[in-house]
Amino acid sequence: MTTITVPLGERAYDIVVEAGALRHFVELCADLPLPVEVAVLSNQSVGPLLADALCEQLQASGRRVLSFNAPDGEVHKSLEWVGRAYDALAEWGLTRGGVIVAVGGGVVGDWAGCVAATWMRGVRLVQVPTTLLAMVDSSVGGKTGINHPRAKNLVGAFYQPSRVVIDPLCLQTLPPRELRAGLAEVIKYGVIADADFFVWLEEHIEAALRLDAETLERIIARCCQIKADVVGEDEREDDAIGRRAILNYGHTVGHAIEATAGYGEFLHGEAIAVGMTVAARLAIVAGVMESGAGRDLLARQTRLFERAGLPTQMPADHDFDRLWQAMTLDKKARGNKVNFVLPLRLGEVRRAENITMDEVRLAIAE
Ligand code: NAD
Ligand code: GLY
Repeated sequence: MTTITVPLGERAYDIVVEAGALRHFVELCADLPLPVEVAVLSNQSVGPLLADALCEQLQASGRRVLSFNAPDGEVHKSLEWVGRAYDALAEWGLTRGGVIVAVGGGVVGDWAGCVAATWMRGVRLVQVPTTLLAMVDSSVGGKTGINHPRAKNLVGAFYQPSRVVIDPLCLQTLPPRELRAGLAEVIKYGVIADADFFVWLEEHIEAALRLDAETLERIIARCCQIKADVVGEDEREDDAIGRRAILNYGHTVGHAIEATAGYGEFLHGEAIAVGMTVAARLAIVAGVMESGAGRDLLARQTRLFERAGLPTQMPADHDFDRLWQAMTLDKKARGNKVNFVLPLRLGEVRRAENITMDEVRLAIAE
């Protein structure tokens, strides 16, 4: 078992990573302590696989348990399903002393987190992430939210959980494409913050793909430690601190691909892999990295993505003007220039403001 603390003063919390953690979830939360009232929020796919057993364990420990499952899918990370969760909590009677346990991928975590942040002005939240992406990224750091018809993640709150319980064995039922998409975020951590971890991933990527428990536990723990450090320095992605923004490596182009490609064509992690590839080329084009070192980083990053089964090429039919428009609409853009996070060397990135359309066009055309 590995325990990582997110250092946020009186809102500090532990992330527990252990193969088999869910089998003794109640024990792992004993020190919180877990209250008598527990509302378990999940979705209709993950509920029967994982959340139902957790509910039984909680009931066996003498707790009163509500189980509420939303339908599966990003489209249900919505105000409508926040409202439906409120209805269920109101009918069942979750008081301020209760806790919400979110069991699922990033969609469930963001939605249930948003419910927890607002129900009775905030009840305690425990995150139980069940996708690799949620384990290494979305369950840690307190970003919660829902989508608005005009844009993703437009409504929400920073709301830190009281605990994150991660059981890598949950990944055994995850569709392989979702596992690979999560690996894009894992590789991202190596490039942005830890060159040794990147090298270690080059040696262990196949073990991760075959779900080797020890490899996964080590990967998840390292990524959570990096994210915990970053969030501890810059909880709210403050421009003046500029630390949390490094997590957005690959996101400028990645988000634009997600926004312009057909629904479901790219998973988030797949779009980020392409976005990281463009960002590494851009670092060379914009002169942030010397060409030889830049080419070496780009080649190693691309090779690792390929071995992880991730895309690195822009969609063949992409429309640059639409992509550029999506990039300038992003909340991080300023006028006709766009912000990027660009690599300086393996393990270090920096924000680059004022990247021009021509530079992006060149990097994409490479
Ligand atoms: P997801 O939550 O949609 O899960 C992917 C699919 O896997 C779903 O069909 C889900 O039901 C299924 N699933 C989950 N766990 C499973 C398991 N153990 N076995 C079998 N199936 C399982 O997708 P995701 O990639 O986990 O999350 C994407 C979401 O996360 C997006 O909404 C994104 O905006 C959000 N996100 C949030 C943050 C943050 O900091 N809050 C960071 C990154 C992404
Ligand atoms: N996923 C980016 C962040 O948590 O800041």
